[in-house]
Amino acid sequence: MSGSIPPDLRGRRARDPFLVAVSTLFTGVQRVRSLRAPVVPRARPVDRTLRLVVQEVRREAADVVALRLAAPDGRVLPGWQPGSHLDVLLPSGRRRQYSLCGDPGDRRTYRIAVRLLPDGAGGSAEAHRLSEGAEVPVLAPRNAFPFLARDRYLFIAGGIGITPILPMVQAADRLGADWRLVYTGRTRASLPFLDDLAALPSGRVRIRADDEHGVPDGAGLLRGAAADAAVYCCGPAPMIDGVRAAFAPGGGATLHYERFAPAPIVDGVPFEVVLGRGGPALAVPADRSALDVIRERRPDVAYSCRQGFCGTCRVGVLDGDVDQRAASDQGDGSMLICVSRGKGGRLTLDL
Ligand code: FES
Repeated sequence: MSGSIPPDLRGRRARDPFLVAVSTLFTGVQRVRSLRAPVVPRARPVDRTLRLVVQEVRREAADVVALRLAAPDGRVLPGWQPGSHLDVLLPSGRRRQYSLCGDPGDRRTYRIAVRLLPDGAGGSAEAHRLSEGAEVPVLAPRNAFPFLARDRYLFIAGGIGITPILPMVQAADRLGADWRLVYTGRTRASLPFLDDLAALPSGRVRIRADDEHGVPDGAGLLRGAAADAAVYCCGPAPMIDGVRAAFAPGGGATLHYERFAPAPIVDGVPFEVVLGRGGPALAVPADRSALDVIRERRPDVAYSCRQGFCGTCRVGVLDGDVDQRAASDQGDGSMLICVSRGKGGRLTLDL
């Protein structure tokens, strides 16, 4: 529409007062509208949940099952890299992380493996009860243990720690890198995925069972590593701690590891947590996490990784000074109670 005022309704050139009033009102409305902030559609949170089903259950060792997951309609799944994991949402609502241990080139299935923990309860027991056809929501793959391109590798896996390492070994072999794998465990029968490893050059794989050779130390596991090797290590905490203590950086060598259990608490001091304003106060010793202590009183408190990266255990802090120990702590009045702690006084949590 032109901004000029038309002749009056009878065709005269003089400006008609009625049309002038209508035009002025219209222009005013346009101006007010143009001053309003543009309406921006609110971004919806991205739902990363994939609703998968168990396509295959396979026993890989006495206490280890491998689950192959697929979309019900067989569609292509999000890609992943060696070292990635899935967050699996178990029927009870528990959320657990499991490393992807299949072939990243297979875009229609994911493979994970779960070792049944000795107490026979919790997430591992639930995962062992999943049968073929069961629905399993998962979050799309994430990678907290990236596999870097290098010429030489030493891989060290202990027991179920083979799960992130296996796709790395296979990738290193495909890439023509110079690699070695040391795979340890209580007995040969306790070691999953020996069949998969049998397909690799046998001279590069050393299976080392404790009942044949004794429990290895860190220096023994690192023996023979090239001076510029990338060392990738996953397994029980004592094994990782031994490798870390014996590893000598320099000459281009690098050490990369992933824990399945929380790291020991270093330089912790005792403190108290108060569960909500006016709630009970619980004593947290220097060598225990707030999460462990709180769960004795409130077993419903959610957690998953217990290592400060998944965010499941984040709670609001109502009062007190926090010793923030997680890389993802946000300084926003909340804390991850699996790793972050009090500074010695009282912490009142929004629980
Ligand atoms: S349980 Fe994962 S961050 Fe605390």
